[in-house]
Amino acid sequence: MLIREAAAEDWPRIWPFWHRIVAAAESYAWDPETTEEAARDLWMGPAKRVYVAEDESGTVVGSAYLTANYGGPAARVANAGFMVDPDRSGRGIGRALAGHLLAEARAHGFRAMVFNAVVETNPAVGLWASLGFTILGTVPEAFDHPRHGRVGLHIMYRALD
Ligand SMILES: CC(C)(COP(=O)(O)OP(=O)(O)OC[C@H]1O[C@@H](n2cnc3c(N)ncnc32)[C@H](O)[C@@H]1OP(=O)(O)O)[C@@H](O)C(=O)NCCC(=O)NCCS
Repeated sequence: MLIREAAAEDWPRIWPFWHRIVAAAESYAWDPETTEEAARDLWMGPAKRVYVAEDESGTVVGSAYLTANYGGPAARVANAGFMVDPDRSGRGIGRALAGHLLAEARAHGFRAMVFNAVVETNPAVGLWASLGFTILGTVPEAFDHPRHGRVGLHIMYRALD
């Protein structure tokens, strides 16, 4: 598997799984009916560094973005987002993307990484914990989950030194 910076031409390969994941409304606090154009701005807007994971055949199987979570004097705290094609989940792609993004964040001078809204029922919570993230707090009952009802949103953090 190859992880590389994304080009604008990669978007049509990201959109099918982006749409599937957001439409499922289980893991992101974005409108499940987000249009393709709005989705591209959310994922690939000018403030974002975007990466894709490709399998051996060159198929895009996952994507991630890196950005500053805050501005001004707090701009050294990063935020990142991750999506793996649900047909390819559970094969280590998400863990590889996360390792790559942590290294990229360090390389670009970020001192810490924060996830603002990790749905508490998301199995990804365990992935982030295994990578050194801690839960700073939880906004209770913030997210209407289609199967679990009202669930909390974790704010997760790790230092990058
Ligand atoms: C979260 C996500 C990026 C993980 O990618 P992935 O390629 O499926 O994850 P990996 O195969 O690298 O698994 C990493 C670990 O997380 C756990 N895990 C991740 N997703 C899981 C799932 N859906 N069910 C069970 N375990 C899961 C695995 O146990 C695995 O542990 P291991 O490495 O010790 O075996 C991917 O499932 C995804 O895109 N989910 C929808 C969007 C999302 O939730 N993004 C994160 C928002 S905070």
